[in-house]
Amino acid sequence: MKDLSHFGRRLAAPSGIWQLMEDLGRALAGEDDVLMLGGGNPAHIPQVQEKLRERLLHIAQSETRFAKALGDYDPPQGNRALIEALSRLLRERFGWPIGPKNIALTNGSQSAFFALFNVFGGTSESGQKRRILLPLTPEYIGYSDLGLEPDMLVSARPRIELLGGHLFKYHLDLEGLQDLMDESIGAICVSRPTNPTGNVLTDSEVCQLTDLARNRGIPLILDSAYGLPFPGIVFVDAVTAWQEHMIVCMSLSKLGLPAVRTGIVVANEEVVRMMARINAITALAPGGVGAALVLDLVESGEIVDLSERWIKPFYQSRADHAVKKLVDTLEGVNFRIHTPEGAFFLWLWLPDLPVPARELYETLKKRKVIVVPGEYFFPGAQSSWEHAQQCIRISYAQPTDVVDQGLEIIGEEVKAVIGKSSNQ
Ligand SMILES: Cc1ncc(COP(=O)(O)O)c(C=O)c1O
Repeated sequence: MKDLSHFGRRLAAPSGIWQLMEDLGRALAGEDDVLMLGGGNPAHIPQVQEKLRERLLHIAQSETRFAKALGDYDPPQGNRALIEALSRLLRERFGWPIGPKNIALTNGSQSAFFALFNVFGGTSESGQKRRILLPLTPEYIGYSDLGLEPDMLVSARPRIELLGGHLFKYHLDLEGLQDLMDESIGAICVSRPTNPTGNVLTDSEVCQLTDLARNRGIPLILDSAYGLPFPGIVFVDAVTAWQEHMIVCMSLSKLGLPAVRTGIVVANEEVVRMMARINAITALAPGGVGAALVLDLVESGEIVDLSERWIKPFYQSRADHAVKKLVDTLEGVNFRIHTPEGAFFLWLWLPDLPVPARELYETLKKRKVIVVPGEYFFPGAQSSWEHAQQCIRISYAQPTDVVDQGLEIIGEEVKAVIGKSSNQ
């Protein structure tokens, strides 16, 4: 189509996240016979599925609950009962100083990020071009194309700490960050745990970011899609405490409910009012089915217990298994894995990879293994960095036999491509 608007050219064009979700959707629909180690789909954890099925039946059997959950619009801020229950849970169990005016629901947290990035980034009334700072790349691919204006993201490289047992860890490079913190920065955003690396910023790193943001009078957007308080896919000691200038974005997706598209934004009242108004314009109201499904679990606090009892141990044992398997299959190769501290991805770094990770992705795709090449995870990068081309993201959320087969093929292909180059 010709003569599309600026909006159309930006949003209706192919993007990395579109391609990723296309691949994921096709693979999960069984259209492609592939080993899907690529997307961000959560596992179907039996105990969680059982609980959700029970809640669904409960709604289906209650005339009023069924009629309300499916037959009524919620207000633009989101389902009132869930917002009240969430604010009680977060206040009473986690000590967050909040009330119902501090929470808005969205259609998945992705749409919250779209709104937030374009509220705090882009050209302001005074003509200042504002940007969103991603303080530690690699960072979530889904941020890359959110900006309605070009060059809205700016990001920093991490400090790399080498650990024993083929592991490594990224840390904030505070000095590098200070250099980027100019007047143009409208908000800081970080995912914790980080997709794609499984990194969990330490509490003290979060404090440093909170201080940076507070001193500048800008919000710190903390993306807790995999994190605390739920779904709590965090394998190390960490705390998430909300403060007035923080915007904590949570989601029901990684708990096991990506299809209900429910995001939760915890922020000051002004931001929550903005989110509600944006919801009204873009979607009238957030969907209410997810809210109805988890309402009782939030009211009783069971949602947190589910996370601690089933979700976290499930992914922790999957992570341990996947690391062992990858270490075995890559024997003899120079490689490192980001220490898996949360989420459900292994971030594999192959310093001797003689081709860009994109090429390795294509090779693996031919063998029906889908991973995501590292180049996608550096949104807002100021310059190209060869490290980006030496990494791939591997999800371990699919059934163990699928992950194991995929990891074996990855081992074979990595050895083949590295062996080929050392023989030349
Ligand atoms: C880090 C991160 N943030 C946000 C999202 C968005 O998730 P949803 O829109 O399903 O809440 C994802 C999904 O994969 C993610 O990985």
